Amino acid sequence: MSDGGHVWWEDAVGYEVYPRSFADADGDGVGDLPGLRSRLGYLADLGVDAIWLTPFYPSPLADGGYDVSDYCAVDPLLGTMADFDALVSGAAARQIRVIIDLVPNHCSSAHPLFRAALAAAPGSDERARFIFRDGRDNEQGPGGGQPPNNWPSQFGGSAWTRVTEADGHHQGPGQWYLHLFDTSQPDWNWHHPDVPALFEDVIRFWLDRGVAGLRVDVAHGIVKDPGLPDLTGPQPLNAPSAYRHRPELQPLFRSWRAILDSYPAEGFPGPRTAVGEVWYDVPETLAPYLRSGGLPQVFNFQLILAGWRAAEFRTAIDSALAVTGGSRAPWVIGTHDVARPASRYRLDEGFTPQTVSRLIALGDRNAEAGARRARAAALVLLALPGSAYIYQGEELGLPEVTGIPDDARQDPRFFRTKGEFPGRDGCRVPLPWSAAGTGFGFSRTGQGSCPAEPWLPQPADWGRYSVESQLADEHSTVNLYRSALRLRRDHPALGRGAPGRDALRWLGPDEGGLLCFAREPGFVLAANLGPAPVPLPAHRDVLLASGPVAGGSLPPDTAVWLGT
Ligand code: NOJ
Repeated sequence: MSDGGHVWWEDAVGYEVYPRSFADADGDGVGDLPGLRSRLGYLADLGVDAIWLTPFYPSPLADGGYDVSDYCAVDPLLGTMADFDALVSGAAARQIRVIIDLVPNHCSSAHPLFRAALAAAPGSDERARFIFRDGRDNEQGPGGGQPPNNWPSQFGGSAWTRVTEADGHHQGPGQWYLHLFDTSQPDWNWHHPDVPALFEDVIRFWLDRGVAGLRVDVAHGIVKDPGLPDLTGPQPLNAPSAYRHRPELQPLFRSWRAILDSYPAEGFPGPRTAVGEVWYDVPETLAPYLRSGGLPQVFNFQLILAGWRAAEFRTAIDSALAVTGGSRAPWVIGTHDVARPASRYRLDEGFTPQTVSRLIALGDRNAEAGARRARAAALVLLALPGSAYIYQGEELGLPEVTGIPDDARQDPRFFRTKGEFPGRDGCRVPLPWSAAGTGFGFSRTGQGSCPAEPWLPQPADWGRYSVESQLADEHSTVNLYRSALRLRRDHPALGRGAPGRDALRWLGPDEGGLLCFAREPGFVLAANLGPAPVPLPAHRDVLLASGPVAGGSLPPDTAVWLGT
């Protein structure tokens, strides 16, 4: 619903749910939709406006559900379509919107259309919906023994897998197919007309069921240069290339926006939205995505990439605001793909693919500082102009779990790099709901029956982070988040802020440990990212503090919201 030109998603706080790790209602050790529904009261009390559900579709789970074998169904492990409908209506009753994950870059190798492609001959229409090519000849002679180009998989190794042909004409090693991620995730060919048509149907299917919008997986990468040229020269990780930030994306996203806008804007859930997962090296890369008529929003990962230094945070915020103004690019400090902030901030540097290995090497050092910094970062995140997302468990201050045994790991990144990169399992460990018991309350079962162990092992001290323990402690991280979200809703300077006012105004120098900005009317954020206490800026009252503050100074690793 639009209120005086204000659209709900412009300053909404979203909450990312990784369903298999949120809450388990049937005791099998895997989170599910009824489990999530049973905890909607917790999310309403937390004060979030929307939940983004990562994939819950039928899937062989080679990549946590981002290997979809049916886009219009619920994986039986997670529930039924009736459970999904009950979740959407239960959330609506609590004024919470549901955003689902659209995975258009690739499907699962178990998807019926990919199976049909494998069964069909080279050159067939079935194969043309994916990206099949003959291999390149190698030094030993012709025969297509080399991948068609030198593109790497994002999970390690080549982006190509060779198939074995058995089409009646030819038996043995045959064509190759492209997969920017795991072998089990073949990329769709977006130049084939069936593919956009298929996804239009998928989008309408879920919008018709009342979802408020889509989170678009790999939104920067779904269209490839049909010439599939080799990569040459230096390759900045997220710069434009033959498979990133292609111009064909913009008309595609405009067509999706037209579908979103064709749904009535009045009533709940109001105007439908889409938020793209777009990784970029410099925020200017976002500009084409933010042109009018395209995706309503794209994620802003700058705060994940910034190190624990006031100057880095300030640059991250300034450069993103210059391009996005805040409301078009929700801020995040964590997702299910990166090391958890409470552990990440034990290091001074921003997130890199090496972060988890560095945390493992760090052992127990700096744990307290990491936890303090994550609380301070939460107050920075929620004071910024526009919209923000919280990844489940951030509000509990959960650390990255670094001790997962190799034989329990699930992330394809771990397998494809032969263990060089431990992967993302450490931020996906099932949530602790109670202080004790099997799975710390993650799984609930009927009277007397004992739930299965959670699908990823929880650390022995998980109970101290549990919702139960934290709700009983007024200084806990969950209570900090609840207070921050309540204030954010009520304070006229927060969220999108007062109309006609600057998004924010920096106070103080851009060097040293203090990160400090004002928002009007009457609000100042001050965070100390340096090693020594700094004087508190002038204020009338302290609205909220991430840690103890006394005597007019702000201790290191602490943030405050001030009324002025
Ligand atoms: C981004 C998702 O967030 C990540 O979890 C997944 O592995 C890749 N896209 C591939 O779908």
